[in-house]
Amino acid sequence: MTTVTARAHTNIALIKYWGKRDAAQMLPATSSVSMTLADFYTDTTVTFLADQAADTFTLDGHPQPVPAKVTAVLTEIRRLAGWSRSAQVRSVNHVPTAAGLASSASAYAALALAGSRAAGLALSPQALSRLARHGSGSAARSIFGGLAIWHRGSGDSDSVAEPLPMPNLALRMIVVVVSAAAKIISSTQAMANTAATSPFYPAWVATNEAAAQQMVAALAASDFPRIGHLTEQSSMQMHATMLAADPAFTYFQPATLRVWQLVQELRAAGVPAYATMDAGPNVKILTLAAHVDAIVAKLTPEFGQQLRVTGPGPAATVLEERP
Ligand code: PMV
Repeated sequence: MTTVTARAHTNIALIKYWGKRDAAQMLPATSSVSMTLADFYTDTTVTFLADQAADTFTLDGHPQPVPAKVTAVLTEIRRLAGWSRSAQVRSVNHVPTAAGLASSASAYAALALAGSRAAGLALSPQALSRLARHGSGSAARSIFGGLAIWHRGSGDSDSVAEPLPMPNLALRMIVVVVSAAAKIISSTQAMANTAATSPFYPAWVATNEAAAQQMVAALAASDFPRIGHLTEQSSMQMHATMLAADPAFTYFQPATLRVWQLVQELRAAGVPAYATMDAGPNVKILTLAAHVDAIVAKLTPEFGQQLRVTGPGPAATVLEERP
């Protein structure tokens, strides 16, 4: 049996994905746009074994119960390969918990690539993106390096990501770790609660789908102020839907707002810096290479130990294939 190891990098959405229109098929309410990051990735090794009763899973060397989302991706691979073998999955995260970033995007993209290759499948990048989506929506985008758009699509086959041309800009992201603790509520559950109860949610869907298209145009024009503005707006509008949910909730902590305030002060002083937050309290600051030092200098007195600077990273790749 072939053993395949693949690496995929995590990504941060500039235009967010928040909510599914079909949970079973993992179809998003809107399109989203992201940047894959250079410094954070997952390596996953998959072997299908004819004589093994059930799937097994280890994370960072520790055996774990197989997560339902891992089973979902493996089930889809078995359907595509037309066999019923069980899989041995070993995953190693190089998305340090201390970085406070979610690793589901890199994890399910690496699983889709390693698993499909181990099953003898040679899937196109679009088919890999579709497969990764069945594990975690954001993973659909981590198949690609640089910038990617995950299209809302009309159904299972075309709700996939594709790469976007890189703008003529030295994009950078500064991760400010406000808390490395596990999230208070999973993104899956938070999305479902928001979509079901927030009166702001329909407005979010309408606005964010248009924003995805506006972002594509801003990237094509290498218009950084516009890219940054759309990025911060998509994130804040996403978080606003949660404040209006029943029960109301937020991922923000006091330090989240403090970082955002510092980002606004930087902008007022002429430094292009834009904040984006996901399903947690940490802040990612989108900027250009030339302004990293000014932003780090501003944040260091309060957040010096909690800063990580990164840039655009590569597409998912196979690291090793052994017979
Ligand atoms: O696919 P998930 O469960 O990792 O959800 C991702 C949700 C956000 O990170 C908040 C937004 C996004 O588009 O990545």
